[in-house]
Amino acid sequence: MSWWDRTQSRLIFQSGIGFVYRQLFMHPPPIAAGTTLDGQTAIITGSNTGLGLEAARQLLQLNLSRLILAVRSRAKGAVAAEALRHEFPHAAQQIEVWLLDLEDPDSVSAFAAKCDQTLDRIDLVVLNAGVQNKDAVVSAQTGHEQTFQVNYLSTVMLAVLLLPVLKVKAGSVAGRPARLTVVTSTTAYFADFDHERPILPQFDADRYDVTKWYAREKLLQMMVVRRVAALVDPDQVIINTVCPGLVGETEIWRTLNTSAVLRYLFSAYFALFGRSLAEGASTYVHAVVVAGRESHGGFLSEWGVRP
Ligand SMILES: NC(=O)c1ccc[n+]([C@@H]2O[C@H](COP(=O)([O-])OP(=O)(O)OC[C@H]3O[C@@H](n4cnc5c(N)ncnc54)[C@H](OP(=O)(O)O)[C@@H]3O)[C@@H](O)[C@H]2O)c1
Repeated sequence: MSWWDRTQSRLIFQSGIGFVYRQLFMHPPPIAAGTTLDGQTAIITGSNTGLGLEAARQLLQLNLSRLILAVRSRAKGAVAAEALRHEFPHAAQQIEVWLLDLEDPDSVSAFAAKCDQTLDRIDLVVLNAGVQNKDAVVSAQTGHEQTFQVNYLSTVMLAVLLLPVLKVKAGSVAGRPARLTVVTSTTAYFADFDHERPILPQFDADRYDVTKWYAREKLLQMMVVRRVAALVDPDQVIINTVCPGLVGETEIWRTLNTSAVLRYLFSAYFALFGRSLAEGASTYVHAVVVAGRESHGGFLSEWGVRP
């Protein structure tokens, strides 16, 4: 990360001029009129709520033909799917709820296998599911700290398992590359590690800190995507990362804004520095539909592609 990237991040996140900067310069690029996803199949993880659900809506608005909502709760997924079916009757028969629990590696591999075995084509994948916890939680299945398991280990595992499937399911069917976008965050710019010790064990061994862990996990996502992209032909699959910007109308803060006072402070903060849910989710659409080879391995930050 360059000095300028770091300075912009600090200005935007930590000072009052962030508000003006955001309003003037940080709107996601519009999606060109006439863009259509007719005939295409998309998968979005964590799509029962928040940015994932809104991204699903926006892809369906572009005439997406088939949508897989990859969620950990069948009940929540059913509610989201019903709302989408009601709003988009053209795809009603083709909006499906598939279970995926990123705390459980068996669920991740079963999900990838199901994609391989049952989908004729896969055009777009958005790995959006993520979690932020106020306090440390240990994942029962793996013994890893939960945010590390969900945001980093399982998200990367799913990306790696899906890549060979995507090569076959889009390229040969549609004659163009499949697209895989991992949702990360500009907070990665603030990540720091103890570089004297192996990095990954620090997530489980050290004292949990929500801000530090989240920034580190998001940075590692970007690094892995960058390395993996070097092994993937962008004529087969374009893989990138995207930050939706600061969006208050989601549930990511559910363990943090637990009192009326905190909720009030969070709302004031988002009103000043945040963007709308629709604007945030449109960054996903841009990353997975519009951005091309120039984004392969790169990070679609709030200021454009960082190769
Ligand atoms: N909101 C922001 O300002 C912001 C900024 C930068 C990046 N992001 C990133 O954007 C993504 C979406 O966040 P959001 O703000 O929309 O949050 P959200 O409303 O809390 O949505 C998160 C989604 O992830 C799912 N999820 C959590 N743990 C899971 C697991 N173990 N297995 C499968 N799914 C799981 C949630 O399912 P349940 O509903 O069942 O828990 C939910 O559907 C995240 O990756 C987040 O880090 C958000």
